[in-house]
Order: sequence, then C-alpha cells, then structure tokens
Amino acid sequence: MLREETIRALIEDALGMMKMSYIPYSGFAVGAALLTEDGSVYRGCNIENAAYSPSVCAERTAFFKAVSEGHTRFQAIAVTGGKDRKADAFCTPCGVCRQVMMEFCDPETFLIISAVDPDHYRVYTLKDLLPEGFGPANLEK
Ligand code: THU
Repeated sequence: MLREETIRALIEDALGMMKMSYIPYSGFAVGAALLTEDGSVYRGCNIENAAYSPSVCAERTAFFKAVSEGHTRFQAIAVTGGKDRKADAFCTPCGVCRQVMMEFCDPETFLIISAVDPDHYRVYTLKDLLPEGFGPANLEK
C-alpha cells in the first residue's frame, strides 16, 4: 500500500502538470504522475495535434518518459483532468493507456489514483479498470 503522503504528492504533481497540457483542440487538460518501483516520479501531460490522431494522453507521456529513461517497473499513477485546466471531475485513463499500463504493470497491484485534489481521490487497481487484460504473460510458452 502507498502512504497517504505519497498519494498526496503524486496528486499535486499531476495537478501541476495540467498547466503544461498542449490542448488547443479539446481544451481538456490532463496531468499524470507515475511512481516507479524505486520511488522516482515521471510526470506527463496530454499533447494534442492538428491531425488529431497523433495526440497523446498524459498517462502515456509519463510512461514513455519513464521507459525511455530505463524504468519498466511501476507502483502507481495519479491522474487529474478537466476543462479549462480545472480538475473538476474524476478522470480515469482511456483504453489505450490502460493497455500500455498492462505491458509494464502487475494488474493486481498497480494503483491508478483518479483525483480532483489531494483530499478527494479514488484508487483502483489496473485489474479493476482492465479486467481480463491481454499482456506479456499471454505470449509466454
Ligand atoms: N486524455 C488524457 O490525456 N488522458 C485521459 O485519461 C483521457 C483523455 C486527453 C486526450 C485529449 O487530449 C483530451 O484528454 C480529451 O480527450
């Protein structure tokens, strides 16, 4: 289990990242803070594109930053989001981001923290949000 202060710090990081979101098309900012197994934190924001489909979510930005720096094992991710850069609703990862998590995370233990602020958050396991997910284990043997 994560300590309360760790959860609160991740939420603060995610909220801070919403300032960095590049969102000229949706106006919907998302921030993410990803905790690696060794305790470091990688932050991400959503980055949109005029051609739409190259847009990337905050969660994948955080994951790809971390993996590109050599991290492949993770404890938790905090996610915040909303219109006008206000985290006024519980934002949960899209299906594509859940699948990216499935590649690197244990669905039973990896925690997804969906937050409005450090006092108001919901905690899920990856398995809660992606039951019966397809991952690396399915390709073994
Ligand atoms: N978005 C994320 O970054 N993460 C989510 O969990 C949901 C959606 C982004 C994609 C797009 O830039 C905007 O939010 C609206 O869908």
